[in-house]
Amino acid sequence: MNPDWMTAAVGESRPRVEGRLKVTGSAPYVADLAVPGLAHGWMVTATVSRGRIRDIDATDTLAHPGVLGVLDHRTARRLNPDVGQHFGPDRSLPMLQDDVIAYAGRPVALVVAETPEQARAAAARLRVTYDTEPHDLAFSMHHPAVRPASTLFGPEADIGDLEGELAASAVVVDEVYRTPEEHHGAMEPHVATAWWEDGQLHALDSNQGPFGVSQVMAALFGIDRERVHIRAEHVGGGFGGKTICGAQIILAALAAEHFERPVRVAFTRRQVFLATGSRPPTEQRVRIGADAEGRLRAVHHHAAFALSPLAEYIEWCTEQARTLYAAPAIRTELSAVPLNILPPCSMRGPGATPGSFAFESAVDEVAERLQLDPLHLRLLNQPSVSPVSGRPFSTRRLVTCLREGARRFGWAQRDPRPRVRREGNLLVGTGVAAVAFIAGVFPSSATITAETDGTFSVRVGATDIGTGARTVLIAVAADALGVGTERIRLHLGDSDLGMAAGAGGSRGTTSWAFAVTETAKALRERLPGSTTPVTATVDTTPLINWQPDEERYTYSAVFAEVTVDPATGEVRVRRLLGMFAVGRVINPLLARSQLIGGMIGGLSMALHEEAVRDPITGRLVTADFAGYHIAAHADVPDIEADFVADYEPQDPSGFNGLGEIGTAGTGAAIANAVWHATGIRQRTLPIGLGRAI
Ligand code: MOS
Repeated sequence: MNPDWMTAAVGESRPRVEGRLKVTGSAPYVADLAVPGLAHGWMVTATVSRGRIRDIDATDTLAHPGVLGVLDHRTARRLNPDVGQHFGPDRSLPMLQDDVIAYAGRPVALVVAETPEQARAAAARLRVTYDTEPHDLAFSMHHPAVRPASTLFGPEADIGDLEGELAASAVVVDEVYRTPEEHHGAMEPHVATAWWEDGQLHALDSNQGPFGVSQVMAALFGIDRERVHIRAEHVGGGFGGKTICGAQIILAALAAEHFERPVRVAFTRRQVFLATGSRPPTEQRVRIGADAEGRLRAVHHHAAFALSPLAEYIEWCTEQARTLYAAPAIRTELSAVPLNILPPCSMRGPGATPGSFAFESAVDEVAERLQLDPLHLRLLNQPSVSPVSGRPFSTRRLVTCLREGARRFGWAQRDPRPRVRREGNLLVGTGVAAVAFIAGVFPSSATITAETDGTFSVRVGATDIGTGARTVLIAVAADALGVGTERIRLHLGDSDLGMAAGAGGSRGTTSWAFAVTETAKALRERLPGSTTPVTATVDTTPLINWQPDEERYTYSAVFAEVTVDPATGEVRVRRLLGMFAVGRVINPLLARSQLIGGMIGGLSMALHEEAVRDPITGRLVTADFAGYHIAAHADVPDIEADFVADYEPQDPSGFNGLGEIGTAGTGAAIANAVWHATGIRQRTLPIGLGRAI
């Protein structure tokens, strides 16, 4: 092996290997890739929230120049009705199969034409009529249809005598917190190009995991997974909205088969809002009892979220309550309310983000009522082992994050009293929040070939959704093989590369890096003495310990400084600092970017993001960036993210995921800072104009 391997690539800041391609506009995204004979599909979606399609009159559409035809529930081929996705059976997947409408935005037809312009113009002439039925969008945790959420992630917590401890507490906070329906808003809209060849499906698709999408597509179309070939080479963001098998690829594959041509379905921004998933609204009751010194006695977090009757989903808001602080009594409950909404899917720290807003706001309210420093209260209640399971933590550097963050942020100079700090007309406040984000690994496989020219071809079914996965996997492979990064040829973004986890759940990098590392190990054992190319493949499924002795989390402490204009209620974030304990960091430059991006997502959700539905029609009023506000550059302040030294013992290389922890925590830190500035507690996001005063 090359002696220069002593210069480890892991731990070094390196820019993205595809950065130049991206900034020069030459990285080929799905819609950039030419396919001969391409036709274009335009999706038409339901304008009612519940009911049945009475009729689809395509006379004018078919008369439009360039139109090849219309696919709807009367003409589309049958798909397998029983296909599951991440959270279980998903009846939203078989599209154009019947006349039933369960949410506004449900695809009802695809108009296919020679050009996208013709398809769009012809689609506007499609006359779809409905027999409407009363819909239900009235989300509340007290809704009559509320039921326990799926326990796919494990049972909720229930230890100790909750009511007894609450009764014995010196102070009890009992409040309800709300977050709205939110949308992912990835930069690249969903798009797929599909074609069939010899009974095999080929597709270019913007998604977060081509292998998983190939499994769902194979099941829907009733063919072997090996006959489905999906590529997602460059993906312009996902935020969870591309973890699912999207409408774009299902519709493109249906049309490509029907019209016997390659078909591209490219969504507009509006169609992304209408038809590709969302974070559901949440309503969360948090009760916390503490003694006069601030020691927690009782923690109760009951979270409810909305979902679609078509598909199971989990917005797992209750994780913070069971692990962040020690208390003799802890109960968590998670409820789901089926409504006529777009089926939700994971979005930017699913569960943890709205959950930590509620929980870390309530913890701050305990400090407020006891007139204790909120940082002190958090440090006072640190558990030595998991407060619910009693298991040790594999690594827990939260105290270091809190203390180091406080030092850098200048927390010691803070006057604890609310509404006392003024600068000109503005009120100024600071706040803090802690986060525990569950970490782990999913099964993946990798294949590495030692080529005769001294390079190594590394094949892994990963996706780089803009996070830098390519760059970090090259570093991981180089170190694991003991060679320089220039000898690594990495191939990713293709379902033919083998079983692999998607870029999601903050587990993409840990899962792929584990597979690459184990494959490199296997290859190195076989290399000595060989003169021909040698290949090794490892599937990590049997190597993963699903019942580890220790609980595995990443941690952060987020500090925020805000100003509030007392005349308008306008909140501006002035400073954000996140200190993170996320295992051994592979590439500090890219990790910092990912965490800062996450914190901006958290800021955006704290102050701007809110999907609004018209209660009469159930339709999304905010289906564009004019109505659905996300943080823009001018909203983003002095923002910093840094790491404390950490190493994850459950990972062979010490790695942990950091994809989403930046988002969680930021909302509560900002809401707590707004309280400090104004003396008014914010229990509903977003803290928009007028709400903060
Ligand atoms: Mo993430 S919301 O698991 O893509």
